Amino acid sequence: MPPQSNSASADASSSASQPNTWSQRFESALHPAIARFNASIAFDIELIEYDITGSQAHAKMLAHTGIISETEAEQLVVGLEQIRQEYRSGQLQPTVDDEDVHFAVEHRLTEILGDVGKKLHTARSRNDQVGTDIRLYLRDQINDIRQRLRQFQTVLLDLADAHVETLIPGYTHLQRAQPVSLAHHLLAYFEMAQRDCDRLSDGLKRVNQSPLGAGALAGTTFPIDRHYTAELLGFEGVYRNSLDAVSDRDFAVEFLAAASLILIHLSRLSEELIIWASEEFRFIRLKDTCSTGSSIMPQKKNPDIPELVRGKTGRVFGNLQAMLVILKGIPLAYNKDLQEDKEGLFDTVKTVQGCLEAMTILLAEGLEFQPQRLAEAVAEDFSNATDVADYLAAKGVPFREAYNLVGKVVRTSLAQNKLLKDLTLEEWQALHPQFEADIYAAIEPRQVVAARNSFGGTGFDRVRQALEVARQGLET
Ligand code: ARG
Repeated sequence: MPPQSNSASADASSSASQPNTWSQRFESALHPAIARFNASIAFDIELIEYDITGSQAHAKMLAHTGIISETEAEQLVVGLEQIRQEYRSGQLQPTVDDEDVHFAVEHRLTEILGDVGKKLHTARSRNDQVGTDIRLYLRDQINDIRQRLRQFQTVLLDLADAHVETLIPGYTHLQRAQPVSLAHHLLAYFEMAQRDCDRLSDGLKRVNQSPLGAGALAGTTFPIDRHYTAELLGFEGVYRNSLDAVSDRDFAVEFLAAASLILIHLSRLSEELIIWASEEFRFIRLKDTCSTGSSIMPQKKNPDIPELVRGKTGRVFGNLQAMLVILKGIPLAYNKDLQEDKEGLFDTVKTVQGCLEAMTILLAEGLEFQPQRLAEAVAEDFSNATDVADYLAAKGVPFREAYNLVGKVVRTSLAQNKLLKDLTLEEWQALHPQFEADIYAAIEPRQVVAARNSFGGTGFDRVRQALEVARQGLET
C-alpha cells in the first residue's frame, strides 16, 4: 500500500501534526518535498506489526513499574490491537504526514484513545523503538529463511537418495577430472546450506538482544524495567550500553553477509544447472513448468530461473555493501543515516526467500537428470587416468613414476583416438609388467567411483553414510 503524498481530509491520522509532529519549538510545517524526502513510511510500514507488538510490551512495562496505571496500559494494549486489525483489513492508510511507522501508530492511537494515547511514548524514543522493531522483524525473517533452507536441503537429500549410483563427471577448472556419484555432488550443496543455517542461527543470538529502554541515547529518568520488556518480547538479553543499543546495526550486517553467502551458493548451483541444461552438456532436461521460451526462436528452452537467481546475487551483495558504507562514518549515537538500513534489508530478505523457494521447486519438480547421457559422459574420457596411476602405486610403483607413465599413455592414446579401456592387455604389460587383467575392472567408471571410499569421498558406501548423517541432522 503506497502511502499517499497528501492526506485526504477524511484521514485524521495526521491530525496530531500541529503544525507538524514536533513540539512547539517548530513554528511551521515541513516543506512538502522535504517531508517526502524525510519520510520512511513508504517502506517502514513493513514493520508495523512489530512496532505494535513492541509498543504493547512497552505499555505493559509502564504499568508494571507504576509509571502509568494498569487501566491506561490495558487501554493502550487494546487500542494498539485495534490498529493491528485496521492495518490487516486495509483500513489504516498512513500518509507522508505521519513520517514513519512509529508516528503513524502513535497518531492513530491518540485518535482512538485521546490523551491516554499520548502516554505511550513515555520513557521511550523512536531510536530504541526502531531498533526494537527491526530486531523483531529480522528474528522472524531469519526463522523463516532457516525453514526455507531446510526445505531446500530436504529436496537435495531426496534427489541425492535417488542418485547415489548415478555417475556424473567431476570437474576441476571445468575440465573433466574424476567421475563422482551425483548424490555426492548434490550433498556438497547440502553442506553449504547447512553452514548457511548455522550462520543464521549464530547471528540470531545478536539479533535477539533488546535495545528497548535505551531511550534516545542515554537511558531515561523513569524507573523502567528493561528486562521485563525484553522478556515479554522474547529477547534473550538486553543491550548493556544505551549508546550502543540505539546505534548498533552489526546484526544487520551479519545477516546481509550470511544472505550473500546463501546467494553465492544458490548462484553456483544455478551456474551448474545452466551449464548442464545446455546442448553441449545435456546432463539435465528442464521441465516446461520451470523454463521459458524465446519470443523469436521457436526451438529455445531457457533456464531463466537459475539465471535470475544468479542475477539476483548482485542486489544482495549490493545491499551488504550499502549497509557497510552507511555505518562506517556515523558518530554515536543515532543518526538519520540509520533510516537507510531498511530498504536494502527488506529487499535482501525477500530476495533470499524468493530464490530459495524457486530453487527448491526447480530441484523438486523442474528438472530431470539424463542418466543415459551421464553414463556416456563418464565413459568417454580419461577421467580414470588417476586410477591407472593408483593401480600401479598400490602395487608398489612410486606414485610419481606411475603418474608420468600414465601421462605418456594418455598422450599416445589421444593420438590414436583411443580411450584407456581400449588398450589390449599386451599394450598395458608392455608399458609396465605389473599390469594384469584386473586393470579393466579398476578403470571402469563405476569402480573408479566406488573405490574412493576415504572419509568425505565419493565412494558409494561413504555417500550412503553421508546421506544418513545428513538425514539425521535435518530431523533434529
Ligand atoms: N524513521 C526513523 C528510522 O527509521 C525512526 C527513528 C527516527 N529517530 C530520529 N531521532 N529521527 O530510523
